Amino acid sequence: MKTVLTGIKPTGDIHLGNLLGAIKPAIEMSRSGDFDRALYFVADAHALTSVRDPEIFKNYVYETTATWVALGLDTEKSIFFKQSDIKEVFELTWILNCMTPKGDLNRAHSYKDRVQKNQQEGRDLDHGVNMGLFDYPVLMSSDILLYDTNEVPVGKDQVQHIEIARSIAGRCNEYFGEGTLVEPQEVIQKNGSYVVGLDGRKMSKSYGNVIPLWGTEKKLRKTINKIATDSTPEEAPKDPDNCTIMELYRLFATADQINALEKRYREGIGWGYAKLELFEVVNEYLKEPRERFNSLMNNKDELDKILNHGAQRASEIAEATMKRVRSRITGF
Ligand code: ADP
Ligand code: TRP
Repeated sequence: MKTVLTGIKPTGDIHLGNLLGAIKPAIEMSRSGDFDRALYFVADAHALTSVRDPEIFKNYVYETTATWVALGLDTEKSIFFKQSDIKEVFELTWILNCMTPKGDLNRAHSYKDRVQKNQQEGRDLDHGVNMGLFDYPVLMSSDILLYDTNEVPVGKDQVQHIEIARSIAGRCNEYFGEGTLVEPQEVIQKNGSYVVGLDGRKMSKSYGNVIPLWGTEKKLRKTINKIATDSTPEEAPKDPDNCTIMELYRLFATADQINALEKRYREGIGWGYAKLELFEVVNEYLKEPRERFNSLMNNKDELDKILNHGAQRASEIAEATMKRVRSRITGF
């Protein structure tokens, strides 16, 4: 039995980084025939560490669900669900918490970054840190281990979390015997595991530099126009290997299109023109999914149905795993 699984946190506009680092590869893996099971979910419990408005929260959950379906996920062949619908994940989180050295979590990136920032700004080191943020990697380990997952497609920033999940599983297998939990492996894309944003840093909701998947064509055009460029004159030759526009273009264009635009760079190209070329390929990719997304967002009953159906199927797997884990760990 080979299982692929990944989750997306519903905390804001889904963007090109999420698409290329996680969603697109995950959908391709579900179609590849290499897996017996594909499970994908909305990591809504993880979003609670930061979202504080129920209206917004609910809308993000629906948007995340509609995104996967709009991009072509088959919710019959794959199991698509909402994390918090499967209560076993919280039971497993407690068990795994008891098997996790606190030091491992002190070293986890998002917590460490927060502490470092507080230090720099002269604040209390735990300012703005809730226990959910601290324990985030253990809940994520439960997400993965609960479904006996073998492979997890994610962007580079999530690798440490998968390593933590693998190490917790390994420790449980040592304590309670081989086969207690499956040790998972991350799957990183050659292209797309580190998509750059408008300012040339990693595209991320937390940096406010994203190109969102959804919205009107006009909005996409406007966002792409915001990509930071220098003031090199239009006619001056430009380096296609050192440019955010080109970096994004390569992720959507064909080999011929890429060659042609690289040539124009070397001859001299206006940034406005290069941005327009990028807009064209991204828009072409998103055109049909955008219509499906909009129509799904107008049909919440359909989205509820998809989530309920997925929850039923995911819960069968979760129950079986918990039976095994409880019995190995507690004897009951
Ligand atoms: P964000 O950093 O915008 O909050 P998430 O943490 O919700 O994004 O990420 C959801 C998925 O998308 C994860 O698998 C993550 O690794 C991937 N991802 C996020 N940003 C990028 C990026 N810039 N390039 C590639 N993958 C990314
Ligand atoms: N932490 C992931 C993110 O921020 C989301 C996530 C939660 C996830 N649980 C997961 C990803 C399990 C892969 C597997 O993007």
